This record gives sequence, structure tokens and C-alpha cells, in this order.
Amino acid sequence: MEPYKIKVVEPIAFTTPQERAEALSAAGYNLFNLPATLITIDLLTDSGTSAMSDRQWSGMMLGDESYAGSRNYFNLERTVRRITGYRHVIPTHQGRVAENLLFTTVLKPGDRVPNNIHFDTTRANVEHNLGVAVDCVVDEAYDVVADHPFKGNMDVAKLDRLIAEVGRERIPLVMLTITNNSGGGQPVSLGNARATSGWCHRHGIPLFFDACRFAENAYFCKQRDPECAQLSIEQIANAFFALGDGCTMSAKKDGLVNIGGFIATNDDALATRLSNMLILIEGFTTYGGLAGRDLEAIARGLEEVLDERYLAHRVGQVRRFGERLVAAGVPILLPVGGHAVYLDALRFLPRIPQPQFPAQALACALYLEGGIRGVEIGGLMFGKPNEATGAWTWPELEMVRLAVPRRVYTDAHLDYVADVCSRLLARRDTIHGLKIVSRAEVLPHFTARLAPVDEAG
Ligand SMILES: Cc1ncc(COP(=O)(O)O)c(C=O)c1O
Repeated sequence: MEPYKIKVVEPIAFTTPQERAEALSAAGYNLFNLPATLITIDLLTDSGTSAMSDRQWSGMMLGDESYAGSRNYFNLERTVRRITGYRHVIPTHQGRVAENLLFTTVLKPGDRVPNNIHFDTTRANVEHNLGVAVDCVVDEAYDVVADHPFKGNMDVAKLDRLIAEVGRERIPLVMLTITNNSGGGQPVSLGNARATSGWCHRHGIPLFFDACRFAENAYFCKQRDPECAQLSIEQIANAFFALGDGCTMSAKKDGLVNIGGFIATNDDALATRLSNMLILIEGFTTYGGLAGRDLEAIARGLEEVLDERYLAHRVGQVRRFGERLVAAGVPILLPVGGHAVYLDALRFLPRIPQPQFPAQALACALYLEGGIRGVEIGGLMFGKPNEATGAWTWPELEMVRLAVPRRVYTDAHLDYVADVCSRLLARRDTIHGLKIVSRAEVLPHFTARLAPVDEAG
């Protein structure tokens, strides 16, 4: 059961099928364009959507809004140092700014950045700096039903192949995303982080964690890896971070806040360069684009997220949701990840070919059927037209991620979502594909507009 009581409630919206059809058409079949007031259950993201605790809210009243040296910054610094062991803690207003700072500072055009799988903003920040984002996750990650406890693991042999191909000087750093969001919220094992770290340090290459969901990752390790069974969540987190040289963090996930992030490292010279850039784009080094009260909420959220009871409920709630879907015959990525259930659109809608964006079509159908908002992680997000030929390359997976906000929905809400998915499965042959009407070059899924493909295509 939930290890907390509910003190504040927020009504949710109920809409008619006609209201939803009109809203979706006006939104260009892109769920990012829908007003949240027209969503019944919002599973677009687990990022920045958490419910904060009374302790975090009371901390916000203790916000010290000094431009420099706010006491809340020092609370955050102390907490981050305790968890990560990294000396330099540079606050940012969200995770992608930490990525922006890192890649604008360390990347040269043509550099390669390996990751297990880059998240979309990570990939975009690498590419924006004219680098090449290379996914080196284990092959099992692409097998949606392979029962592997650590599908987020890095394939070190792929790192070997990359370095043989491009040379050490072309790889300024390696990233490891815990848990691996774009691969289904799957964890990375401590042993794999150790092997990746060993590889990096043998070649003199720094290792950075993309640490948004470090606590959920640690909980999986405790459950699945005998090496971690007797350790606390904090000890497991400590063991991970000790293997790296720094991390980027969107605190909007395991920081249990609505806004915030940071970059942390032990590299003094790098920290100086990052801090100088921070002042240019975010603000002074002790606030980094955040109010003092936000810094306090993050410091407290990072402490709360280490609570094993909280994590047992959190990861258990997502697993139970996945099990309900499996029982209803809905194809999902297995095993269930830490923060979301991923519907496998290629199996859900086998009649819709990839050029007609099956995962986006499924996400739209879920909204029409039940007012549920998920997010496409497939061809719209990662597909790319070749500049010269116009031919598209498609990602291996077409998924709809149903991300579960932290401490927000009850099992009854998720049962409703499972019922809607199962109803949709029963009438899946009535769902049509989509075509692009307009699309931006960078992070196209956020703003693209689409239209239904009619029977004639
Ligand atoms: C793995 C991962 N990295 C980076 C980010 C970017 O964080 P933000 O949305 O705070 O910019 C996210 C956000 O969802 C993420 O899941």
C-alpha cells in the first residue's frame, strides 16, 4: 500500500468522446498540444509531475531567495555530495540544461558520445553540438519480451568496436543512463556499471551518469542482484556514483519535485568551465535558474526518494499496472520498467506500417477512447528523413510510454487505464495510421502536426 496519506486533492477532468475528437484534431494529432484540462489520466511523463510531501512544501516556506549563497543551495549541495560523493554541485533548472552545459563544454564537432540509450534531449544536445550520439545498450534491450533483469546494461563490446573505429580522442566521455528511459525504464546492474567504468578508465575517458532515476535503479539492483541485497538504497547509489566522474540529473524524476536539476562532478577544471557557462545561461552558481525554495524542495526530495518503503510502492505500483495489462493480453515491453509501462505498438497495431507512425496512432487512440495521455517513443520521436534522399530510417522500437507520476495516481486510476487499453485492443482494426503535416528539425515530436491516413493512404 501507499506509505503515505493523501492531504490535498485535485479534481480530474472528464470529457465526452466528441470533445476529445475535436481537441485532438485541433492539436494536430500531437498530444503535447492538448490542454491538460482535457486529460482524464495524464501519463505523458513522470517528469516534474510528482506530488510533493508536506515536508517539501514546508521546506519551500524556508526558501532563502538571496542571489548568492542561499542556505537552501548549501542544503542541496550537502545532500547531493552525500548521495553522489561529487564535490562540485551545479544547480540547473532542469536536466537538459545540465546536458547542454556538459556537451557545449566538452564536445568537438564529429565527437562520438556512447550511452546505453540516449534520452531524446541528451541525443539532441549531442547532435546540436555536432557530435554523434551512439547507443551501445545490450542487444536484449531491443527484444521486447526477453526476460533479462538488467536490460539497461551497456554492451562493453560495442564500446570496444566504437573506439577501434573512431579512436580514443574522438570519445570525450561515456554516459550511462540509470534507469534507461528510452529502452523501457530498464535498470543497469552495479556489475555492468563497474565494467563500463573500468573500460572508461582504462582508456582515460570520463564516465557520466544520466542519473534522473538513480533511486529506482538502485531499488531494482537491491531486488535483483544478490551483490546489492544487503545494501541500503543510499549505499547502492553511493557505489554507482563512485564508479563515475560526474552526473547530470533531472530532479523532476527522483528528486520528487516539479522543477530542477543539477550537474555534479569531481573534476575541478571541468566544474570551473561549467560554472562559467552556467552564469551565462542560467544564473549564479548557487541558484542556477531556480528559486531558493526550489533548491530546498530538491534537497528534501532527494532524501525522501531513498526511502525503501516509498520505492517498494512506487516500483510495485508500476509493476502491478503492467501485470494487469499482460493479463488483458495487451502487448507491453517486459519486464516492466521502473517509471512506466511501454505498450508495444508494433504488436498492438500490426496492420499499421512504421511510416504511418503506429505508436503515435495508438497514443491518439488511447486519448480518444479514454482521455488518457501517453507519449510516443518511436518513429515520430526518433525516425529521421535522409537529407539527400528523403528516405526515412526508423527506430527498432515503436512504443507508447505510459509514465506514472510519483505519488499522484492510485491503483484505481491505473486499473481504469488498463481497462481502456483492453477495450482498444478489442477494436484495434478500426485504428488508422498517421502522416506528418509539419515537423521541426530538432526534437520534432514536441511540435509536429499530423493527420490521419485515410483508407486510401
Ligand atoms: C533519462 C533522461 N535524461 C534527461 C532528461 C531531461 O530532463 P528534463 O526534462 O528535466 O530536461 C529526461 C527527462 O525525461 C530523462 O528521462
